[in-house]
Amino acid sequence: METFKKLESEVRSYVRSFPAVFKTAKGSKLYDEHGNEYIDFFAGAGTLNYGHNNPVVSKALIKYLKEDGLVHGLDIATTAKREFIESFNDTILEPRHMEYKFQFCGPTGTDAVETALKLARMVKGRSNVIAFTNAFHGMTMGSMSATANQFYREESFINRTDVTFVPFDSYFGDEVDTAGYLRQLLEDKSSGLDLPAAIIMETVQAEGGVNVASKRWLKEIEKLCREYDILLIVDDIQVGNGRTGSFFSFEDAGISPDIITLSKSIGGGLPLSVVLMKSELDQWKPGQHSGTFRGNNLAFIAASNLLKSYWEDDNLSREIYNKEELIRDRLKVISKEYNSLDMDIRGRGLIYGLQISEPNICRDISAEAFSQGLVIELSGADSDVIKFLPPLVIEEEILEEGLDIVEEAIYKVYNRKEFINQILNHDQVYHRESINQELEQKDTINQRLNQRESIRS
Ligand SMILES: Cc1ncc(COP(=O)(O)O)c(C=O)c1O
Repeated sequence: METFKKLESEVRSYVRSFPAVFKTAKGSKLYDEHGNEYIDFFAGAGTLNYGHNNPVVSKALIKYLKEDGLVHGLDIATTAKREFIESFNDTILEPRHMEYKFQFCGPTGTDAVETALKLARMVKGRSNVIAFTNAFHGMTMGSMSATANQFYREESFINRTDVTFVPFDSYFGDEVDTAGYLRQLLEDKSSGLDLPAAIIMETVQAEGGVNVASKRWLKEIEKLCREYDILLIVDDIQVGNGRTGSFFSFEDAGISPDIITLSKSIGGGLPLSVVLMKSELDQWKPGQHSGTFRGNNLAFIAASNLLKSYWEDDNLSREIYNKEELIRDRLKVISKEYNSLDMDIRGRGLIYGLQISEPNICRDISAEAFSQGLVIELSGADSDVIKFLPPLVIEEEILEEGLDIVEEAIYKVYNRKEFINQILNHDQVYHRESINQELEQKDTINQRLNQRESIRS
């Protein structure tokens, strides 16, 4: 660890939550350099849906490299890219009756978001974009403008404009219709809202605290887009690629986004970012949006093999829903057991959040879980949500094992806190008693002094 502490920037973050030097990984397990084993409930923040070193990926990559397949090629045509486009079209888009064109941008998620925002603004000739409270879209300037968390938006990083934030579904609880609020803003010519080029949304706000939008709300947002000539961008970077059970997270809401951003797990752990756009939006001039790493041939190979292995039937989806039940049932038991902690459970598919409002308790639970061999992270602006994000292919026994560790960690942290509270209460009682004794003593002294005074006089 010394090398990292001494030479790597203070900005490093996950290494602080998971202080081990990892060496190998397979499926849903990681191993550190001393051979300690960890179950992975984090999956590279949603990048390892198919697990670490999935043999489908490793075998295909080794073969491709042995045959001297092209690794880098800017955006020239390659067999690997063609294979990816065709397999995505045949396996994912056509069976869902979806017609989209592909744009390959820089390699990470934020590049896809930047591209989507730029395209929407160019097509509509409007600068404003609507984003939602608790949204997370990435760390480059355009994406960060649409990211809500103040920690990332630090004022000194420059002034971020051209985004209007409005409340996400259930932001004020179930009683307030936030889509209705947005409708009112759009209808009212004096609301002060500039007509946006696009609305950008996550269907489940993963980084924002695992906030799940209802189908009704998603449909209503789409309806507003159609009525007011606004483009709908769904950022499916973290909760697409099967995370919620279906390949895209918006499928069961029955909406049809104009632009979809995909990254993280699409490349099976290798950097790849894709923007899907309806063909009438493809108004780019050749080379108008470019970059050196547009389309990663190794990731194309990984992706096309994964699509063929996992998405030609609905076995993976069914598996995800079964495992979802395991997580949800266990979280229900836990929240009942610790009802004084007033936990909230939310999620879809294999992304679940357990919110515990008591300050710092989630951080302690994650640290305790890590010491017992489980990697699990937090989300939400106050880090008050434990985020369950295992690889989709995790074996049920390993999932159960991980849940056991979470339960044990909560038990330990809760009891430690209770114990400390008891000591504090005891100390307070003790403290109060000693103060009372002191006061009594003072009273007696005063009484005696008074008596003496009166005798003297
Ligand atoms: C919904 C969403 N959009 C965009 C991003 C940014 O992706 P990247 O970190 O690869 O730039 C993330 C990353 O967590 C994300 O969850």
